[in-house]
Amino acid sequence: MSNISVPRDNAASGASPEKSHFSGRFSEPVTELVKRFTASVTFDKRLALVDIKGSLAHARMLTRQAVITAQDLADIERGMGEIEVEILADRFDWRVDLEDVHMNIESRLIAAIGDAGKRLHTGRSRNDQIATDIRLWLRGEIDGLVMLLRATQLALVGLAERHTDTIMPGFTHLQVAQPVTFGHHVMAYVEMLSRDEARMVDCRKRVNRLPLGAAALAGTSYPIDRESVARELGFDGVCENSLDAVSDRDFAIEFVSAAALVMTHLSRFSEELIIWMSQSVGFINLPDRFCYSSSIMPQKKNPDVPELIRGKTGRVNGNLVALLTLMKGQPLAYNKDNQEDKEPLFDTVDTVRDSLTIMVDLAAAIEVRPERMAAAVKRGFATATDLADYLVRKGLAFRDAHEAVALAVRDAEKMGKDLVELPLETLQGYSKLVSDDVYAVLSPEGSVASRNHIGGTAPAQVRLAAERARRRLA
Ligand code: ARG
Repeated sequence: MSNISVPRDNAASGASPEKSHFSGRFSEPVTELVKRFTASVTFDKRLALVDIKGSLAHARMLTRQAVITAQDLADIERGMGEIEVEILADRFDWRVDLEDVHMNIESRLIAAIGDAGKRLHTGRSRNDQIATDIRLWLRGEIDGLVMLLRATQLALVGLAERHTDTIMPGFTHLQVAQPVTFGHHVMAYVEMLSRDEARMVDCRKRVNRLPLGAAALAGTSYPIDRESVARELGFDGVCENSLDAVSDRDFAIEFVSAAALVMTHLSRFSEELIIWMSQSVGFINLPDRFCYSSSIMPQKKNPDVPELIRGKTGRVNGNLVALLTLMKGQPLAYNKDNQEDKEPLFDTVDTVRDSLTIMVDLAAAIEVRPERMAAAVKRGFATATDLADYLVRKGLAFRDAHEAVALAVRDAEKMGKDLVELPLETLQGYSKLVSDDVYAVLSPEGSVASRNHIGGTAPAQVRLAAERARRRLA
């Protein structure tokens, strides 16, 4: 089938719209269902503004290369200006029988300006056109997400700075492990999100290449100048193989994969917020604007927003699998399968953007309850490792120290006491090396302060880590 997409019958000619999708080569129209099944305009109209932008850059290049005239270009620019206004004002009449965003705009252009509109598609195919549109659009969205990732990090740094000295139990296996500072815990997410940011920035480099000029698949016989189009559209360069340019969507897969990691990190944080807000833990409270009540239990205040961020991670993971699966069986070059790339991509951008936007607000608004954290750190023998390390410093081998402390924990548990609450004589029963300086290491404050190296949980280190992050995010 010819790739020239100017419909033989279009609004300009006043012919019946039912026939507008097929070329002179066909003798029967598609059914209504097939028409709906193949149309993408209901969702790809989202690309309208970048589609126009790409078309104008293409038209200007055609004029410079003397393929179309300056008058044609003037008409195209005027027509596209009007169309843009109609779209922005929501007055544009999107027609499913015109299949996609490209044919809708082109058909409207021809109706508005006549013959010059019919020359716009010279040396171009919808195949390189759509690839260009997606890349232009995605590039802008990545820039927005990078800003949001930075804003989220800043909100978390602020939270960490307010809690450099707040002590909570750190967990492994969700069992109390060792005391950590809440600020240190929060800064862990800043690290994750900073890698997410770097992945987005890196992915953008491969998104930002111009497919236009590849035409349907093999390039075009017109004397085009791809580099100048790339420059005008702000691309870093051109896609160097026409078959690759129109067919691969690896850049989109890469983006959704980076987005899935963003959601994974937000989901882990959300999971923690949910646990921390549960009455049996009570480390935090979330303001009412992030919570909903129950239709039956009047006392309920549920953390719906973090639960939904956790839940929406599933759809982004699904989108990643959808795109990978979409690509894996396609022979070169373009296949209509690729039309299915848009909804997963759009949905991913929307989900990540909304989740991050909410998280910026939510992270800054978390109400921390240091007294609940302090009480929890006293249950679970969080400083047992500190006692073992103390004995090692006094000369015991680590394995022997480990065993001595294990016995102390067993007995303390029976007595219903924390290690710090055991009298000196009792502690000395496990090792003669214990003296009264032991209580400094058995306190949660002493424990966290002693982990004073880069990457450690000491308040002094959290302050430094927050400072480094602020410098990076400035
Ligand atoms: N709507 C199509 C897409 O999203 C545009 C390209 C159509 N190309 C074609 N040869 N049918 O991929």
